[in-house]
Amino acid sequence: TIESKIDSILLKMTLEEKIGQTAQRGKSSRVKELPVELKDAVKRGEIGSFLNIMNKDDAKELQRIAMEESPNKIPLIFARDVIHGFKTIFPIPLGQAASFDPNLVQKGARISAIEASTYGIRWTFAPMLDISRDPRWGRIAESAGEDPYLTSIMGEAYIKGFQGDDLSSSTSLAACAKHFVGYGAAEGGRDYNTANINEFSLHNSYLKPFKKAVKTNVATLMTGFNEVNGIPASGNEYLLKEVLRDQWNFDGFVVSDWNSIIEMIPHGFAEDEAGAAEKAANAMLDMEMTSTSYQDNMKDLIEVGKFSEDKLDEMVRNILRIKFRLGLFDNPYFKPESDVLYAKDHLDAAKEAAEKSMVLLKNENQILPLDTKKSLAIIGPLADAPHDQLGTWTFDGEKTHTVTPLTSFKENHKNPILYSEGLSYSRDKSNKGFNDAVKIAQNSDVIVFFGGEEAILSGEAHSRANLNLPGEQEQLIYELHKTGKPIVLVLMAGRPITLGNIIDKVDAILFAWHPGTMGGPAILDILTGKTSPSGRLPITWPKEVGQIPIHYNHKNTGRPTIPEEFVQMDSIPIGAWQSSLGNTSHYLDVGYLPQYPFGYGLTYSNFKYSDVKILSNETKENGPIIVNAKITNTGNVKATEVVQLYFRDMVGSITRPVKELMRFKKVELEPGTSKIIDFVFTKDDISFYGLDKKWITEPGKFKLWVAQHALDNTHELEFIIE
Ligand code: IFM
Repeated sequence: TIESKIDSILLKMTLEEKIGQTAQRGKSSRVKELPVELKDAVKRGEIGSFLNIMNKDDAKELQRIAMEESPNKIPLIFARDVIHGFKTIFPIPLGQAASFDPNLVQKGARISAIEASTYGIRWTFAPMLDISRDPRWGRIAESAGEDPYLTSIMGEAYIKGFQGDDLSSSTSLAACAKHFVGYGAAEGGRDYNTANINEFSLHNSYLKPFKKAVKTNVATLMTGFNEVNGIPASGNEYLLKEVLRDQWNFDGFVVSDWNSIIEMIPHGFAEDEAGAAEKAANAMLDMEMTSTSYQDNMKDLIEVGKFSEDKLDEMVRNILRIKFRLGLFDNPYFKPESDVLYAKDHLDAAKEAAEKSMVLLKNENQILPLDTKKSLAIIGPLADAPHDQLGTWTFDGEKTHTVTPLTSFKENHKNPILYSEGLSYSRDKSNKGFNDAVKIAQNSDVIVFFGGEEAILSGEAHSRANLNLPGEQEQLIYELHKTGKPIVLVLMAGRPITLGNIIDKVDAILFAWHPGTMGGPAILDILTGKTSPSGRLPITWPKEVGQIPIHYNHKNTGRPTIPEEFVQMDSIPIGAWQSSLGNTSHYLDVGYLPQYPFGYGLTYSNFKYSDVKILSNETKENGPIIVNAKITNTGNVKATEVVQLYFRDMVGSITRPVKELMRFKKVELEPGTSKIIDFVFTKDDISFYGLDKKWITEPGKFKLWVAQHALDNTHELEFIIE
């Protein structure tokens, strides 16, 4: 067995070699040759893993040294951030979550693994499972949004895709569920900031997707840069030992984030690198990314009794177990088959993913789909931005392979088009190009404005405090609006953008995220009606930054606002602000409703929900509840509906959210046709982590909604748990 093989290797390993397995090193891309010190360290068996070795010959040489010259011939594992594609780039993960389509996500991850493994990469630092309720946070782009259930389902899909059916296949990558945990709860949305999450919220929301990932046999986890409730994630014994190992029985290994062990010094949690290593190692953080506090201090820590060799053995065991499961001992080398990169089926899948992730937010007077006879003025900084449409975390995607919307429209030969960028990049503050843009707008029937954010405005350390369209984009939209021509806004961005200043100036809004390599053809097909949009928002879209954090699954408070009660600031008489108007939980100036709710998205058709009922409730016998609904496409075109099932536990021993997504189903329907769908769930699906630190389902009244989005209360049902 693998365990007995590990036993016999451990017996032969020196202390230095064991510590070596916990070390992950990189090579600066500025250094051409492989440094001799690195090769020597591999030869001595003192490195366990490398990240970002992108020269295939270097990867081969390092592996050769490990397999032929190191004392115990333990293979290296090569890692890389393969987040939403390797060469063929899929939409950013937040966009993929909008597809509500786990099969699609799994397929994309499989393709990414096939491409990345041709470079010897067998480990990706994905999926990111951080619950993100704050669009100021730059890394929201890499998440699946605000919902624990959707994030869990998407996480499962990525893991299955990356790891494949058999982890030992040469095209399988070990996945890495990150960042354990609470990184997305950074105060104020400022990256790396403190996270304070109460115990109930930690278990009921933030840990949920990780628990699911462990159930899905994720091979590795990564700790966050952040502290959670006063303890940095990389030295957090409660999370790494009690929750992850003791409660969830995780048997893979945990890697730190880049330098996150020694960053416990500025956190004020360790005095020096030895202290940081002691805390991380005793919390059972198995591998250290880039910094060298384990390598430099672990031997001494063991000698003085601050750490034990037994614990080190456990860490090495975790790492070797994954190397065995990856088949690296038998099959350490890789096949550099470059013909799979950008293969036709990969590009087709990327196009499908881009199409299915796009969310139609507004479509006044059915301006979309575009009439093919109408001439178009294509304007805006993102119409032809091949690098930016790839999005954040795309180290390997090449802009030369990207198909932009402008290229796609030019090749389409249907609508006559004129093009002027107006602004050369999203933050451009010059209005030099305005005249040209306005001129082509005047000479066209419809304006299609490609705006939003460049890729660099989201991602790590790229938080924003103002979420309006950057640069002079709003100004340019005002100028274009003056022409009287209808405006279709195609937004490319890594997060929701606050649209209050321009929402009334545009007739349609398609949110395309950063759609990846095949974004252009996907946008073309949606705008011209070849495909009906089918994405739904995986996050609540705020009207104003001041509403953040905003998420649909909030608590009710003792003074909840209901729409009828809502008092708008403008309607309050001057001088009356101090009076007791409303006395409910809302903002005087923007109310409490978002711009668009979680789960929202339009299509080119309409759907009717009928016969919504609870078919059976077997919960007394611990059986399932079955909910039925008939969905009818009442419009004129084929379209896809994402039917969502929400519940609320009305009274609890701790307060429960006003709504929680429990299931969803995608149904594609021809016009005039219907389908009956059912949702099946049990008591476990409505349980929560409660006062006695256990998961329970308390008896009492529950509400259910079969809904089009989180604020849709049209079809409400009730049931009782006895
Ligand atoms: O995987 C990433 C992580 O998400 C952020 N810091 C760097 C790591 C490796 O590139």
